[in-house]
Amino acid sequence: MRSHYCGQVDENLLDQEVTLCGWVNRRRDHGGVIFVDLRDREGVVQVVFDPDREEVFATAERIRNEYVLQVKGRVRRRPEGTTNENMRSGMVEMLGLELTVLNAAETPPFQQDEDNVGEEHRLTYRYIDLRRPEMQRNMQLRAKATGFMRRYLEDDGYLDIETPMLTKATPEGARDYIVPSRTFPGNFFALPQSPQLFKQLLMMSGMDRYYQFARCFRDEDLRADRQPEFTQLDVETSFMSEDEIMATMEDMIRKMFKQLLDVDLGDNFQRMSYAEAMNRFGSDKPDLRIPLELVEVSDLMQDVDFKVFAAPAKDEGSRVAALRLPQGADLSRKNIDEYTKFVSRYGARGLAYIKITDVAAGREGMQSPILKFLPDETISGIMERVGAENGDLVFFGADKTNVVNDALGALRVQLGLDRNLLTKEWAALWVVDFPMFEWANDRWNALHHPFTAPSCSAEELKADPGKALSKAYDMVLNGTELGGGSVRIHQQEMQSTVFDLLGISKEEAEEKFGFLLTALKYGCPPHGGLAFGLDRLVMLMTGSQSIRDVMAFPKTQSASCLLTSAPADVPAKQLRELSIRVKLPESEASQD
Ligand code: AMO
Ligand code: AMP
Repeated sequence: MRSHYCGQVDENLLDQEVTLCGWVNRRRDHGGVIFVDLRDREGVVQVVFDPDREEVFATAERIRNEYVLQVKGRVRRRPEGTTNENMRSGMVEMLGLELTVLNAAETPPFQQDEDNVGEEHRLTYRYIDLRRPEMQRNMQLRAKATGFMRRYLEDDGYLDIETPMLTKATPEGARDYIVPSRTFPGNFFALPQSPQLFKQLLMMSGMDRYYQFARCFRDEDLRADRQPEFTQLDVETSFMSEDEIMATMEDMIRKMFKQLLDVDLGDNFQRMSYAEAMNRFGSDKPDLRIPLELVEVSDLMQDVDFKVFAAPAKDEGSRVAALRLPQGADLSRKNIDEYTKFVSRYGARGLAYIKITDVAAGREGMQSPILKFLPDETISGIMERVGAENGDLVFFGADKTNVVNDALGALRVQLGLDRNLLTKEWAALWVVDFPMFEWANDRWNALHHPFTAPSCSAEELKADPGKALSKAYDMVLNGTELGGGSVRIHQQEMQSTVFDLLGISKEEAEEKFGFLLTALKYGCPPHGGLAFGLDRLVMLMTGSQSIRDVMAFPKTQSASCLLTSAPADVPAKQLRELSIRVKLPESEASQD
């Protein structure tokens, strides 16, 4: 039906006859001559219909935006003064010789070039939204990325193996999406939160190297970089150390950025321990493009006459940290109030600060509501430690360690963005040496998942679970966790020890993961792997603000699909077959 894509028409085709198919991006009637911008996946070309060809012209007169056309015509140079440098086809146009309307279109709910179309509207008419050049580019880059990684892994001996969607709960920490079984009334499948257990079983099956673009399902609170249904590039290997696994994955990502974006991510990604990341950046996914750091000042604050600082300074689970904003003394009272409100969202109860006009002058050269509580030597100690200079502003957070880290960690990023402090475009690193467990709600919880191997023996692990580190690693790019993985436990005793420490009883372990524990007994190789969040990766590669802009058919914030109106009621008969009766919560039931 066509000889070329619209977006490929350029000076190389001058004077040739081509046949194009596409959508009417815009039609303009210029007193006697009709211009149609014809659009397809690859771009736009201008088609001119002149009145000499009466029949063609008459057809051109009745076409509207988003009509689907087939046009045969001759490529010619645009008249001087009408060229457009920004388009591949901008030096040429096509004289329309034949025109077929393949399909008419009603006036679309929004126009291609309309700004600020509400997201609800975009998602309801997603097929129209996806026609926009930006979305076309995003989808194309996504396809190129999956293609690249597939080739890379296949060349390295990885096998693409599918794992079940209808399965048992996989513990990645979110709620499950469940599917009722008709053949086992009252029983449910869970959709996988990840293929974690299956990929480990594949290693026990001798597959040696596995990968899969795996759909994962997690019923959790959604954010700009989270979807209930998302895609992982999931990888697992046998007989490789964590260094080898990290090196392979890093090489793949580096080469992909080079080839697809011509971006150089640097030779060896920096490795930073979890402890250092939390201390210096308040986050286990630090954005290293931003040159601001948290500085520990607890030791300087222990004896000050300000309980807000002195109490957390003396408490083991708390910290007092400073964050210096170079040349930040120009922040107004109102700015500071806004940042105080910002950190309160992370649980901070205040945001103390010192503005510095003249460091050398001591307290006389500073301005702050807390100076009156601080002795001279504390002030000078702080200034020296943060490296304060005239014109700076220093913020302080004092609270439970996790509150200070969350609040100042987020403030650091916000300040970096607000004040254009980014020192480079890309900053990749590995975060390593995660603790095995964190203590929350009166029990130990796995920081990654319960199949992650510790870096110590089972005895050491039992002796001091809070101190034990794991063989886990996360790849972080520009403050986003792109992927994470670990070397796994491959011995049954160790797996049982970890379940014990997590407070999972023998019976519960047997019921939930019995198949894994059994498999561990029959010859399990040392193995490990990692999973990348494909959507997040593509989001960063395309510079998109939302994960929804790199997925063809994403869900809304409340996990629904506006295009198909899912989720939806099912007929009573279908529920009966599944032995299910619905009982809505009181408030919703009474609305019916
Ligand atoms: P994890 O839970 O860290 O690890 O997930 C791996 C990566 O998947 C992405 N991701 C998400 N992307 C979009 N929406 C979500 N709701 C979402 N949740 C996670 C992140 C994350 O880094 N089985 C382990 C991997 C392993 O150990 O091999 C796992 O699933 O980018
Ligand atoms: P107050 O004495 O409550 O007026 O607090 C004095 C200053 O300390 C104000 O600037 C508060 O924002 C700040 N502040 C109060 N609590 C904290 C806290 N937990 N961490 C950091 N700053 C705080």
